[in-house]
Amino acid sequence: MDNIKKILAIETSCDDTSCAIIDSNKAIIANIVQSQYDVHREYNGIVPELASRHHLENINFIISEALVKADCSFDDIDAIAVTVKPGLAGSLLVGVMTAKALSYALKKPLIEIDHLDAHIWANFMKYKPNTEIFKPRFPALVLLVSGGHTDLYFMNSYSDFYILGRTRDDAVGEAFDKVGKLLDLGYPGGPVIDKISAETTGRVTLPKPFMSHTYDFSFSGLKTAVLQVFKKKKFTLEDKHILAASFQDVVVEVLLRKMKKGIKEFGIQTIMLSGGVAANSQLRDAVCKLAKDSMIACHFPPRPFCTDNAAMVGARAIDLIK
Ligand code: KG4
Ligand code: ZN
Repeated sequence: MDNIKKILAIETSCDDTSCAIIDSNKAIIANIVQSQYDVHREYNGIVPELASRHHLENINFIISEALVKADCSFDDIDAIAVTVKPGLAGSLLVGVMTAKALSYALKKPLIEIDHLDAHIWANFMKYKPNTEIFKPRFPALVLLVSGGHTDLYFMNSYSDFYILGRTRDDAVGEAFDKVGKLLDLGYPGGPVIDKISAETTGRVTLPKPFMSHTYDFSFSGLKTAVLQVFKKKKFTLEDKHILAASFQDVVVEVLLRKMKKGIKEFGIQTIMLSGGVAANSQLRDAVCKLAKDSMIACHFPPRPFCTDNAAMVGARAIDLIK
């Protein structure tokens, strides 16, 4: 599809309504994200019915805003890309029906995108004009850590990649959010615990679910361990901070252990991060250090492109149609 110069991409798989316009060089012309944190905060978690309703209310406005930001109209758009799976059924439906309607009305091709592939492609786009796109040396590992997923990918090339290991229970972002809720620290727990950890020096000992024989992960036992420590005595705010920081330490150590195992076993040349938890400062620092010590490359998207966004959907679409 050589004639495709600009793609309008839509992302509504979870609780972020997003529309981006991206050019054929994967330069982001516009990327508008409407988060629903305020809607779900009082429930300490995402309520699927509310998420889909808010997507429906916001989607048209978000698309208009992206067009205004990109200084273009529907006439300038050559294709529509949309996340079709995986995600919350009602949320996905809003994006998919909107994209299908646009594709039909504008007579432009529709490109269906897997949300997890899009997260990986958040590493491969031009975040700002006149910047270079990161090019990994293969084989590479990509750790996709979000509210719904904890997947470690092995990437042999841009077209040959598969999951080496995944969580057997809670996703790592989900564990952050549940610990945040348990300790009453705020929602979503991930960014709050990230900040608290950086400001807290004390630590307590928690079990480390390494599961060394496999690339799979398990975080529900760690979450239960946090609950058990919490139930033992009356907690001050400082105690809560120490427990939250200790939880984050263990999470980062477990994630790193799996990456180290992969680097050793497969002669990995590049490690990458993606997904909301890839915004975590301690994880980013630890991955940089691991790459340096292993003398390999590392990359992660700027923070706004770690969490859900439509630009990564557009970037994946561009490479898919090439
Ligand atoms: O990728 P994402 O926006 O949505 C999903 O596809 O799930 O990820 C959201 C998750 C939430 O669980 C949130 O707590 C977590 O990413 N998160 C973080 C940080 N920022 C967001 N977790 C740890 N540290 C952060 N700085
Ligand atoms: Zn996501």
